[in-house]
Amino acid sequence: MAFDTFHCSLCGRRVKVQSRADMPVLDPNTGFGICRNCVKNIYHFIEEDEAHKTRNKKKNFSDTLGELLEKNKPHLIKKYLDEFIIMQDRAKKILSVAAYNHYKRMKYELENRDGDQEIEKSNVIIMGPTGCGKTAMLSHLSRLLDIPFAVTDASSLTEAGFVGADVEVAVRNLYYAAGKDIEKTEHGIIYLDEFDKIARKSGANNSITADPGHEGVQQGLLKMLEGSVVEFTERGQRKHPEAPTIKVNTKNILFICGGAFVGIEKIIDKRIKKDNSAIGFGSEIPSKEDTDKKFNELIHQVRPEDLMKYGIIPEIIGRLPVICTLETLDEDALMRILTEPKNAPVKQYEKLLAMDNVKLEFEEAALRQVAKMAIERKTGARSLKGIIEDVMLDVMFEIPKSDEPRRVVVTEACIKGEEEPQIFPLENVTEETA
Ligand SMILES: Nc1ncnc2c1ncn2[C@@H]1O[C@H](COP(=O)(O)OP(=O)(O)OP(=O)(O)O)[C@@H](O)[C@H]1O
Ligand SMILES: [Mg+2]
Repeated sequence: MAFDTFHCSLCGRRVKVQSRADMPVLDPNTGFGICRNCVKNIYHFIEEDEAHKTRNKKKNFSDTLGELLEKNKPHLIKKYLDEFIIMQDRAKKILSVAAYNHYKRMKYELENRDGDQEIEKSNVIIMGPTGCGKTAMLSHLSRLLDIPFAVTDASSLTEAGFVGADVEVAVRNLYYAAGKDIEKTEHGIIYLDEFDKIARKSGANNSITADPGHEGVQQGLLKMLEGSVVEFTERGQRKHPEAPTIKVNTKNILFICGGAFVGIEKIIDKRIKKDNSAIGFGSEIPSKEDTDKKFNELIHQVRPEDLMKYGIIPEIIGRLPVICTLETLDEDALMRILTEPKNAPVKQYEKLLAMDNVKLEFEEAALRQVAKMAIERKTGARSLKGIIEDVMLDVMFEIPKSDEPRRVVVTEACIKGEEEPQIFPLENVTEETA
């Protein structure tokens, strides 16, 4: 650049421009330019303005929290969950209270910034057999709560330095769920799914093999659960040492750790029997039919020491003070899941077929048969949808071939695969049933 002299278009000062730094904004053709000093001032004003906005936002955040508290009282949260989740009343209550208290803590913290008293958070551990509604319950809760919520699969985490995702990933997921807003991230909820998979192997299986990987993950999580500043880079920048890091304080993040904890009922049973034998109760071997009932009775009696035996380190258990247990779903519950929830599989198919002018009818015996098959598959409610999907495939294929209003009846035999669901023209139906 030539050694020209320009006048700053804002302050009018004469500037000898030797490099870009002398006049950061300059169009030599028109002579429009802003000197370094003015740019600095503008930058300063913008910063001030942003800070002012953030201060106001904080005040508003407290107001919004007030509204959220009003809207999300525990009984209202539970009522909402009832629309989607069958049974699991105790778990719904526990989560409703946990979520409500999470809001309250936020409000308290905002209003008592300088106070030395604080309300400690109550992280939750949630356990129950596979397909009983753990993940489903949490995902519905998150939709209601209007605070960021992210699910991270704990079994995908590895100790720092190992190949795989570091524990920080859980916080990074939340940061993305919060639309990259750090303040929102710091008040969100992290659901660590499959939490039982990071149990120390030497715990549950009593094997002597060391298991440093899983214990390392637990140690890593421990820091986050306690509340610490977690640092991470934007996705995919791990290899760049100069990539800017994002810092998030986990002090106010609510952690909910969920898992099936397969086999924990045996540990609980053993402990109870040990306690009871001391005062003279005999131990009975339950009949096979009683196993589910027994499981439901046992799971609610879980204590921290059982989790320790299972392979969770005591320090973590100490930071998960609320234990929330879910029950095995029996045949009746599975039948209700098919039809009652707002998003019940049968309702979904009814809606789909209605769009083609078709009325869908499931006979009671058919629903019971679906539930029976789901129980055989031992995956809780998870397999319900798949069983129905298999049966409905041909119907879904045939129906759109015509625009005639029709009716489809699904019978027990259809579910068993012995016959195809019948498609009737709608007029004949009324004659038939009349
Ligand atoms: N109690 C319930 N009420 C309504 N639907 C349920 C219930 N339990 C499970 N479901 C349905 O079954 C499916 C599987 O449930 P979910 O994913 O919550 O299982 P999970 O308890 O997390 O099991 P896992 O331990 O295997 O992860 C979901 O689609 C959910 O809609
Ligand atoms: Mg799950």
